[in-house]
Amino acid sequence: MKIDTKAVHTGDRKKLGPHVPVTTPIYTATSYYYDSMEQLDRVFGHEEAGYCYARHETPSGVALEELVCALEGGYGAQACASGMAAIHMAVAAALVDRRKSIVAASAMYGATVNLLMTVFEAAGVGVRFADMCDLDAFRAAVAEAQPGCILIETISNPLLRVGHIDRIAEIARENGAALVVDNTFATPLLVRPLELGAHFSVHSLTKYLAGHGDVMGGVAITDQGHIEILRALSRTMGPVLGPFECYLTMRGIKTFPLRMERQCANACRVASWLSAHPRVERVYFPADPKHPDAATIRRLFPANLYGAMVSFEIKGVGSEAAGREEVFRFMDALRMIVRATSLGDVHSMMLYPPMSSHRELSPKHRERMGIRDGLVRLSVGIEAVEDIIADLEQALGA
Ligand SMILES: Cc1ncc(COP(=O)(O)O)c(C=O)c1O
Repeated sequence: MKIDTKAVHTGDRKKLGPHVPVTTPIYTATSYYYDSMEQLDRVFGHEEAGYCYARHETPSGVALEELVCALEGGYGAQACASGMAAIHMAVAAALVDRRKSIVAASAMYGATVNLLMTVFEAAGVGVRFADMCDLDAFRAAVAEAQPGCILIETISNPLLRVGHIDRIAEIARENGAALVVDNTFATPLLVRPLELGAHFSVHSLTKYLAGHGDVMGGVAITDQGHIEILRALSRTMGPVLGPFECYLTMRGIKTFPLRMERQCANACRVASWLSAHPRVERVYFPADPKHPDAATIRRLFPANLYGAMVSFEIKGVGSEAAGREEVFRFMDALRMIVRATSLGDVHSMMLYPPMSSHRELSPKHRERMGIRDGLVRLSVGIEAVEDIIADLEQALGA
């Protein structure tokens, strides 16, 4: 062979041999080679296990999907390039062969609301919102709308309300709908929606599961009845997660339970410290015995794990509620807690929902959701809790 040909082919397509790598490597190949066309044909036809094209499956993706599926108690999973892509895929899969109508919780991540309205509703799917924490109102909305899909979050963003997943799953089944639960805030350490009767559990992997602020990814986990349609839609729509992100996510997940336990414990301490602070108007945290969903939380969450998100409203100076200006002054004074969007990372992060997660909603829509101008959302990290509290203290003093 000439040097040009050698440069292209030499060293590639080696058989692995009897050894197995201890951790999953990053498989960047976009297509796979077989000894015969007969075999490739069987793989394409799903008669024989194997890989053919990276939009369909990759060894990196399959390994991650198996891992997340085991954490969530599902049958199969589809890793996607973002949490939003995973929500899109799960809702689209839920609607196949069902009525083209969705009932969603009224308090949801802003981009999810936007997805429902600008993608699904714009394509002719009926979309209606209802309070997932008011079971009678939610049941009535489902009975009236007769949706094919119900979409809720385990812990809502940013007010940390907790819905009755198991009861909503029953409502979904009684009405022939599929229940999709965004489990990003709770993580499978707290709640596993499929075990409570949901049909799909979705995650922004970007958050607690990958956990280090360096991966954008999502995953939809589902049951035996929906996995084929989820995979088929994914092969067609192509939202797949790249192999490097799969690798980083698997690496992150190895310490996820340790990180999450520490973050939950830190969040409990931070929330009770904030509750006693004179500059804090109100704290939203699921461990609060006065939380409006305390009974559901006791029923669904394990003891002492309440998540690691704490939202709170800053008190205004004088009788006025705090506004954007005072919140910005407080956030600008933070020295260690990172002022940035996202959550679930090892470092503590603070976000101003009206500016980021719920920016796309009108002020009226935000007001209806209870997101006031003095509200901030803290994602508590794994740092020493004394340092987190000290930073909050000096910034509140400022
Ligand atoms: C609850 C929730 N679901 C989904 C998403 C979307 O995830 P991604 O940014 O990975 O698309 C986010 C992002 O912040 C989120 O907070």
